[in-house]
Amino acid sequence: APEPCTLVIFGATGDLTKRKLLPAVFGLWQDGQLGAGFSVLGVGRNPMSEEEFRTLVRQSLTTSKETDEIEGNNLEKFAAVAHYVGGEFGETGTYDAIGAKLREIQEARGAGDNALFYLSTPPSLFEVISQRLGDAGLASESDGWRRLIVEKPFGRDLASAVALNDALHDVWKEHQIYRIDHYLGKETVQNVLAIRFGNLIFEPIWNRSYVEHVQITAAEDLGMEGRGGYYEEAGVVRDMLQNHLMQLFTLVAMETPVAFDANAIRDEKVKVLRSTRPIPVERVSQVAVRGQYGPGTLYGERAKGYREEEKVAPDSSTPTFVAVKLEVDNWRWSGVPFFLRSGKRLPKKVTEIAVVFKRPPLGLFPGGTERNVLAFRIQPDEGVSLKFSSKTPGQENILREVVMDFRYDAFGAELESPYSRLLLDAMIGDATLFPREDEVQQAWELVSGILEAWSQPDANLPNYAAGTWGPDAADELLGPDRRWRHL
Ligand code: BG6
Repeated sequence: APEPCTLVIFGATGDLTKRKLLPAVFGLWQDGQLGAGFSVLGVGRNPMSEEEFRTLVRQSLTTSKETDEIEGNNLEKFAAVAHYVGGEFGETGTYDAIGAKLREIQEARGAGDNALFYLSTPPSLFEVISQRLGDAGLASESDGWRRLIVEKPFGRDLASAVALNDALHDVWKEHQIYRIDHYLGKETVQNVLAIRFGNLIFEPIWNRSYVEHVQITAAEDLGMEGRGGYYEEAGVVRDMLQNHLMQLFTLVAMETPVAFDANAIRDEKVKVLRSTRPIPVERVSQVAVRGQYGPGTLYGERAKGYREEEKVAPDSSTPTFVAVKLEVDNWRWSGVPFFLRSGKRLPKKVTEIAVVFKRPPLGLFPGGTERNVLAFRIQPDEGVSLKFSSKTPGQENILREVVMDFRYDAFGAELESPYSRLLLDAMIGDATLFPREDEVQQAWELVSGILEAWSQPDANLPNYAAGTWGPDAADELLGPDRRWRHL
């Protein structure tokens, strides 16, 4: 268990806090993983009494789908460790009140003055909160550790990410900063490294001699769900590609780390991003496809087009779909394309990484031979499968593709919320699953040409109907003799 600490959540009444953070923290607390002396301190703009905040905590836990089953009177007990401070995020008085509250909690606890600050506010407030925490002396690690978790989006382009990193470093050392990408908290994502480096049979063929291409899909069936205002500003490149998809890509493509620790792993991830061929504006049309959904049919019902969504401009060119071809110019991957795609309002929610192998050099069997595929099913139906050819029973040598399937169900345990894992890691001080400064910046650099090119309106949008797999150009991007997997 981590040392006793206080989790200070900025944006305590926000959506993320209610739907994800509180259930995740509660789950850890109920399992006894946070130890005695753990407290939550919510900070928000609304003036609210501690009692009112506790009511909100209870409500969040009973309404979120992510809350574990609540045992006995744990709801009451957990609410009792929750505290609240209300105030404007720009005002020093708010931080005096936070400091006083932290001291009060610590005196009652009688142990180390550890605090984890979680920025779950709109990104425009990240810098000011960090600065004020520093001014109030709350970032100083004299009597215990002080750490900062920063939610996404981390900047909106390279320049703003660099500026945000600089601003944070005015106050915090890099080892105190935890930039969150919740995909890294997913068990199935961590398993990519476990499978690659915990076995001998995959690594020897994990290269240009055997791999034909790699495809990574993060498809979502949902549309805007009231987030149109945010999404208009973000678009799929900032919302999914720069962070979640790039993370999946680096885990598949990275070299073997020298150790399984934060810096060794992140060094390798940065190296992959640095080896990836840049995409300047002039190359964008050759390697990237943008899409936006129009009206269509999903699960048998009419689904709105993006431009009909709330808080979306009627002539918006914001992309809701991206497919991109990445090329890694190093000895392992030279000539092996990595295709990444993500979109909203596709036919279903599914995330998968598929490593597609080359065909055998000679076709000895009638009907030709297929490519073997190792697929990491990130979500749902979590698992790993290997597709290969087998002889069908009978006199003749007729081959057919078969699948060897591993399912997480086999472990008989529920997969935890990625936020639980990441919160616990931050409390323990393990930054392995948090992107480092240079990693975030390198990922922004890779997508910057796409952002620039796509800041121009596109008269072809919308170009796919809700409930379909995106624009046709995404299929053409693969080139002849390759197909997106049927998911
Ligand atoms: C978030 C994006 O970071 O990730 C959302 O802002 C997206 O738009 C979500 O829906 C997907 O996460 P998950 O865990 O549901 O795949």
